[in-house]
Order: sequence, then C-alpha cells, then structure tokens
Amino acid sequence: MTKRILLTGGLGYIGSHTYVALVAAGYDVVILDNLSNSKRSVCDRLAQITGRDTTFVQADILDEPALAQLFSDYDFDAVIHFAGLKAVGESVEKPLEYMQVNVTGLVNILQAMQAASVNALVFSSSATVYDVSNTSPLREDMQTGFTNPYGYTKLTCEQILEQAVAANPSLKTGVLRYFNPAGADVSGLIGEDPNDIPNNLMPYISRVAIGEYEFLRVWGDDYDTPDGTGVRDYIHVSDLANGHVLSLNALLDRDESHLVNLGRGRGYSVMQVLNSYSRACGRELPYQVMPRRAGDIAEMYADVERAKQVLGFTVSRDLDDMCDSSWNWITTGAKDA
Ligand code: NAD
Ligand code: UD1
Repeated sequence: MTKRILLTGGLGYIGSHTYVALVAAGYDVVILDNLSNSKRSVCDRLAQITGRDTTFVQADILDEPALAQLFSDYDFDAVIHFAGLKAVGESVEKPLEYMQVNVTGLVNILQAMQAASVNALVFSSSATVYDVSNTSPLREDMQTGFTNPYGYTKLTCEQILEQAVAANPSLKTGVLRYFNPAGADVSGLIGEDPNDIPNNLMPYISRVAIGEYEFLRVWGDDYDTPDGTGVRDYIHVSDLANGHVLSLNALLDRDESHLVNLGRGRGYSVMQVLNSYSRACGRELPYQVMPRRAGDIAEMYADVERAKQVLGFTVSRDLDDMCDSSWNWITTGAKDA
C-alpha cells in the first residue's frame, strides 16, 4: 500500500525539493506549512512538476489543536520535519523565538505523533552542530557544540530525539546533518529565493548575477585554504532531497534509526563557487575582498562514509550543476513565483 508522509515546512527550499523526490519514489505526501518563509504558489509549481495535485494544509507547528486535527484527518506512516527558523544572525537577535519554533515545534510534532502512534521521523539537522574545534572531514561521532542560538536549537533537538527514542523504542528517527544545500530543481520552477538580503553564499551570488547587487563581498582571503577563501561542502538540493527518501526507506522498511551527514564529502572555496557561477551566467562576476565574517571557520566538509554505508547515499550532481540550476531558477521560475 502507498505510504503517506507528513512534510512539515514542505513549501520551503529543501522541503519542496524533497516533495518532488518523495512523489517520484511513490509516496503520498501531505504538506504542512505556515507560509512564514514560503509562498502558496509553490503548491502549483509542485503540481506542475509532479503532474499530481498537491495536498497542502496551512497551519503552524506551534498550534497543537491544528496538529491533532491533522493527525486525525490523515493516517501517516512517517513525518519529515523541515519547518523551522534558520537564519543564524536573526537567531542571535531573537533567541527565544528560535527556541519556541525549533525546539517547542519539534516537541509538538513528537507529541502529536505519539498520540497517533506514528513512529518514524526524519529530522533536518545541520553541520552547525559540530564543535568548531573539529578538523574536517567531520565524522558523526565527533564533538558537538554551538556558537549561536540557531545551532543551540539544532543540537537541543538532536538531544530531545535521543531521549524520546530511549523512552519509546518503537520510535525510529533519521537525523540528517545537512552541509551546504545549493542549486535548484532542473525544471527551474522551484528554488531558493529569500525575502531578505541573503547571508548564504549561493543566493547572494545569484543576486549579483542578475544585477540586483553590484558585487560579492568575499569574507576573507587569508584563511589557510588553497586560495585563502572559506571552503564549504556544497551539496545539490536535489541530491539532498534523495537522501530523505533513503532515510525514510531505512526507517520504514528496515526499522532502523540513524544519524548521518548529508554532504558531497569535498569542499569548494568561495572563489571556486564564484568562478563556476560566472561560467553559468556567462560573465565574470565582480567581487571585493572584505575582512573575515565573525564566527566563520576556514573549512568545513563532511565525512560521507556513514551515509553511504547506512543509507547507500551518493550524489550525482557537482558544483557546475548547482550553479547552472540556480541560474536557470533565478532567471526563469523565481521571477513570477
Ligand atoms: P525554509 O525557510 O525555506 O523552509 C522552512 C519552511 O518551514 C518554510 O516554508 C516556512 O514557511 C515553514 N515554517 C517555518 N516556521 C513554521 C511554523 N512555525 N509552522 C509551520 N511551518 C513553518 O528553510 P530550508 O532551507 O528549506 O530549511 C529546512 C530545514 O532544514 C530547517 O529546519 C533548517 O534549519 C534546516 N537546515 C537548512 C539548511 C540550509 O542551508 N538551508 C542547512 C541545515 C539545516
Ligand atoms: C552558514 C551559517 C551556518 C549554517 C549554514 C547553512 C554563519 C556563521 N553560519 O554557514 O550556521 O548552518 O550557513 O545555512 O552564518 N561567504 C562570502 N560572502 C557572502 C556569503 C558567504 O564570502 O556574501 C562565504 C563565507 O565566509 C563562507 C562561505 O561563503 O566561507 C559559505 O557561507 P554560507 O553560505 O553563509 O555558509 P556557512 O558559512 O557554511
């Protein structure tokens, strides 16, 4: 029988791409989102990509009666929980809001699942939970830590899940530590398009590419890296989305909890990303070197062995694919979204 999945935050950047991967894998999906960082038009785009109507419920994960209603309206086999707040800078200004949405929100989801005897959860964690003292490649058994309220909420959520599983052995969880998601669906119909000035590299470069910003500010070129600029593990969002299908399969078919990194297992520098994007958009993109950004580290990339062993996870898209698809999205689908 077709398995039904609840996707919280399913109209957002990673959630929408995961929706596409889940439908392609034969899952029946219900999206819950409060539209705080996404648009209703994504529903139509998802229908266009998949050729099937989208089931969308507008609700907030802090609204417990709405969650109870949702779990009584549908029989879910599993939940993938993306809904949350993710801006590091904003989390420093509004730590309590981040704790309420990210931490209380997760507890609400777990309680609603427990009441409805739903026992499989995939959770969006982040490479931000690794302590900054670690040296890359980062392995899942390395020291954790946090340097800002956002990171604190992700680490706390991981610990809450550990406790919840310890108390209820039927509960199985897939904790996925994402590295740096980038790029967009090949259709150009969905992608990342933040409302505010982007902090992250790829969305910022894409705005330089369309002429909205004059140049990229490169935060430091004196790091101990091959070209002196920061190195990160960028992973195509469609590869990341496939990782969720594999995680779900492990929970539902093999009844196995897991905690894994989702990255490509190699780093690219800021200049490599800028050069690849310049190739994608067909012109040399301007930049200026600025002082280092507070809180940044020189390099960060994943050890991907566990994801390969436990989930069979591999990636099929490279940096050029990320830049090409981002450029395709920002010049087509993003315009009238
Ligand atoms: P996003 O903001 O695009 O998507 C999140 C979605 O959740 C949005 O559609 C938003 O409207 C919804 N949402 C927010 N608060 C909600 C609430 N209270 N109730 C219901 N819906 C709510 O973000 P994303 O990049 O797709 O990230 C998804 C998850 O992955 C987040 O938990 C984020 O912390 C995590 N993550 C993201 C990255 C990244 O670089 N994008 C990296 C690591 C982890
Ligand atoms: C940031 C967050 C991290 C979060 C991750 C994914 C901070 C300090 N860290 O990390 O918690 O998990 O995003 O959402 O905000 N860069 C520039 N110019 C720019 C933007 C970025 O040079 O305008 C550089 C950065 O210095 C870094 C690299 O590009 O070397 C990637 O930056 P970014 O996309 O913000 O990701 P992270 O630094 O990995």
